[in-house]
Amino acid sequence: MQTYHTLAEWRDYRRRLAAGLTLGFVPTMGSLHAGHLQLVRRARAENALVVVSIFVNPTQFGETEDFECYPRDLARDLEALHGLADVVFCPTADMIYPLGSSTCVEVAGISDMLLGAIRPGHFRGVATVVTKFLNLIQADRAYFGLKDYQQLQSIRRLVADLFMPTEIIALPTVREPDGLAMSSRNQRLSASERAAAVIIPKALEYAKVSTLSDPDRFEEAVRAFLAREPLAQVASVDVRDADTLEEISPMTKCAVLLLAVRFGTVLLIDQAELFLG
Ligand code: PAF
Repeated sequence: MQTYHTLAEWRDYRRRLAAGLTLGFVPTMGSLHAGHLQLVRRARAENALVVVSIFVNPTQFGETEDFECYPRDLARDLEALHGLADVVFCPTADMIYPLGSSTCVEVAGISDMLLGAIRPGHFRGVATVVTKFLNLIQADRAYFGLKDYQQLQSIRRLVADLFMPTEIIALPTVREPDGLAMSSRNQRLSASERAAAVIIPKALEYAKVSTLSDPDRFEEAVRAFLAREPLAQVASVDVRDADTLEEISPMTKCAVLLLAVRFGTVLLIDQAELFLG
């Protein structure tokens, strides 16, 4: 496994790759867990070579958010990737955003709604850095988790809109034994917050067996379910069209429930596809 820290090293490797070898790419912010490793394993199974990026992207964190205390442990991440990835690419912020760089990518509509309204600028930061990495890596396939559903949909949109040749592959959320979605943020929960956070998968289970005929009442019922847990501060509960993320309509083929819930200062998100009753 090679570890590259500079764009020049990566570009040199990319240039020397034999034509016809497929390349799978898993972008991450490090602090790897079983959810990331599932993406890497899938990339391994479907491509000749696998590259994983580790880059804590400053532009997707708001001023009051957790960029500084975002967990970082490169040695542990490299150990986890040993035998799974061919290349780990971990550039510095100065390389990804050199002095004078001024181009941003914004997926209009999707970026500002839902979680985008709670975290202004977040999806612009994600879209910008993912565009930069997709351009640098030139992968055949790139792998993302379904948990970050709005991120996934905005990346699918930008790849289609900008005619990028990389295929976007989404994989289901990997969960802890009690159902909580794996996330680097879980490490920042206190013991009581961690125990309380199980209300999220329970709310998803409750929603999946409820009938969705009136979205407003459905969202209200899910909010009430989450409110049973005193440590859960509900940031948003939304039922949307799974393709467009717009409100559901008679045209909706598949609906998705999107949850964002705070435990102390930690914002957790999760999602589930819904049966349209
Ligand atoms: O999902 C993440 O870890 C990040 O948002 C991503 C896609 C690596 C961009 O920084």
